[in-house]
Amino acid sequence: MLSVDAGEMSRQQNYITQIGLYQAEYQRRNGVSRKYWIHTYGCQLNENDGEKIAGLLDEMGFNPAVESRDADLIVLNTCSIRENANDKLYGNLGMIKNLRRDRPDMIVAVCGCMMKQEEHVAKIRRSYGFVDLIFGPQDLHRLPELLYQRIFQNQKPYGVGREDSMAEGLPIHRARKFRALCSIMYGCNNFCTYCIVPYARGRERSRRPEDILAELRQLAAAGYREVMLLGQNVNSYGHDWTGTPVEDQAGADAKGSGRPYDFAALLADAARIGGLYRIRFMTSHPKDISSELLKTMSRYPVIEPHLHLPMQSGSNHILEQMNRHYTRERYLDIIREARSLIPDLALSTDIIVGFPGETEADFQDTLDLMEQVQFDSAFTFQYSKRAGTPAAAMAGQIPADVVSERFGRLTALQNSHSLASNQRWVGRSAEVLIEGRSGTADQILSGRTAQNHLVNFSVPDPSMLPASCRRPDGSIDGAAMEGSLAQVRLTLAKSFSLEGYLEAWHA
Ligand code: 5AD
Ligand code: SF4
Repeated sequence: MLSVDAGEMSRQQNYITQIGLYQAEYQRRNGVSRKYWIHTYGCQLNENDGEKIAGLLDEMGFNPAVESRDADLIVLNTCSIRENANDKLYGNLGMIKNLRRDRPDMIVAVCGCMMKQEEHVAKIRRSYGFVDLIFGPQDLHRLPELLYQRIFQNQKPYGVGREDSMAEGLPIHRARKFRALCSIMYGCNNFCTYCIVPYARGRERSRRPEDILAELRQLAAAGYREVMLLGQNVNSYGHDWTGTPVEDQAGADAKGSGRPYDFAALLADAARIGGLYRIRFMTSHPKDISSELLKTMSRYPVIEPHLHLPMQSGSNHILEQMNRHYTRERYLDIIREARSLIPDLALSTDIIVGFPGETEADFQDTLDLMEQVQFDSAFTFQYSKRAGTPAAAMAGQIPADVVSERFGRLTALQNSHSLASNQRWVGRSAEVLIEGRSGTADQILSGRTAQNHLVNFSVPDPSMLPASCRRPDGSIDGAAMEGSLAQVRLTLAKSFSLEGYLEAWHA
């Protein structure tokens, strides 16, 4: 594990101070601060990185811009998981090229997973020469230094390191008020044959439990009600510390049990922190899931009864080709155990269609496993060839029209399961964590159940709400209700949401 040491962090702090002074001078002269705009592509881990970049920029005296065209600094935080994520970056760079023409003083930075692939760095250098700085997902703590080099030394710095690193204590500007993201580990060791992540994000590095628990305590104290613990495979949390005895770590749950401090122990310690309403986590790799984790989920009501367990394929042959290290039988065993331990458990998954060599019979196995499990929701993907991964060189690449036809059948089946899952809740009452106003109607509120079902609901009588959530004209102030808990009677199911009405206000 390569933690960025205190010396390096204080070096970066010096750059932060110097840029801060430069910004203060700009603000004094112009009456406004320079602004930044960050666009993050891809997963929640990347979103959490984007929040850290924003935190650093805040420290350096920048303010967030409302739109890209108002920004003095644009950061594109890239994703390379599928080809369409790459395409989006190049589309946006084309747009920014035009913006930049009118604003030659604008700084453009590109970072994230794509920057770990040399062909993309070369393409940006060749065709998008206006990009000022480039850094990788493991180098974001160096942003102050790179910006310093750009601003004061007129360089076009390139900060993509070769080492796996991990920085603690970075400032963070959280995007949401009600749900906080907390990365508990970085990188991935699994090398699923289709996946670029282990190449882009390096080997697994687990944060120390005391750092994570301190962050969670701060979040609870700051009023966050839901936290999402993030890792590419949270079930291997701590596996990278060789031989560290539990007693040397912060937690209490695993102490004396003889088992090493693991994700189940961390989750139990997190659940004991007061003030949080809900703790969620993703992603769990089936090969590493433990009975202890499922038991921990069943023991603590604050841990959401929701498991995201990517199945990827229902065919044993394809699972082997994908290097997933489990079979459909083992996957079903996990589901049975989880459902027997956790009442009302919601299950979600990731599924890929069109992996090289996938026959119609393999695909039927996937549909069959979905029928057996009945996922509440699923992220479904068409296989995307990633240069440098083993699957890209495999025989039997599937033609696009076959992939797309199978994808249609897959999503149709999942949509019917998602609808059935929502229908099972009609007539019941559920606790909903409010995320704000619904996107479509001002007086309809939107939130999620503990099972992660999206719920849009009306308030039959606004006097049921505390005065702070009502406007002077008596209507509902959705923004003031973010992060509140309500009891909602569910009356109607759609494929991707439920509708209902407020029964009682909790907190
Ligand atoms: N093509 C399609 N889907 C992919 N995923 C990862 N790599 C690829 C790829 N090359 C999917 C997997 C993973 C999710 C985050 O993205 O299903 O679980
Ligand atoms: Fe990719 Fe597999 Fe790691 Fe997930 S577990 S990030 S799919 S290599």
